[in-house]
Amino acid sequence: MTSTPRVPMGLALGVLVWTAFAVAGAVAQNPEDAARGKALFEGGVAPACNSCHSTGSNRVVGPGLQGVGAKGDSYIVQSIREPSAVVVEGYPAVMPSFAMLSESQVQDLVAYLKTLSSERREAVPAAAPPQHLPTLAAGIAAAIGLTLVALIWGRKKV
Ligand code: HEC
Repeated sequence: MTSTPRVPMGLALGVLVWTAFAVAGAVAQNPEDAARGKALFEGGVAPACNSCHSTGSNRVVGPGLQGVGAKGDSYIVQSIREPSAVVVEGYPAVMPSFAMLSESQVQDLVAYLKTLSSERREAVPAAAPPQHLPTLAAGIAAAIGLTLVALIWGRKKV
């Protein structure tokens, strides 16, 4: 009777570990957004962004988008939805509006463009997303294992 609190304690611990890994999994979704954005940028929309934009600093039809993340999320969103609102100096206003893209598609593009920061643009390999799957699996296993251990331990002392 006296040791009954151990079972809820074990459960609490399991839930805590579970929550921690679930949060870690959610944070790791950012690379996935960027990966989806990259796919959109490279032909997932028509006309493809990369037919007019490089991801470096060189001019194609439009400016190279390396470092554009520094201009802020809302600027990028506006550039995509309403390109004629702000026309980059020295460039023709020929970018079509991509107003038909969903909010999440635009956010994916923003996430991707923000990975093109000046120095580290090669630091976002396409292999990033699968990396958190083993972490998530390990987290789930740890949460279940710890919960079971705590439950068994709690029961033995009764
Ligand atoms: C037909 C060519 C063309 C296509 C396709 C195109 N753009 Fe552009 N884009 C331009 C041009 C030209 C400019 C510069 C003039 C302006 O600001 O409208 C520009 C400007 C931008 C800017 C602002 C850059 C800066 O330095 O301030 C962003 C961000 C951008 N485009 C993103 C995109 C994205 C994302 C896509 C695909 C969804 C896309 N563009 C598709 C031609 C294009």
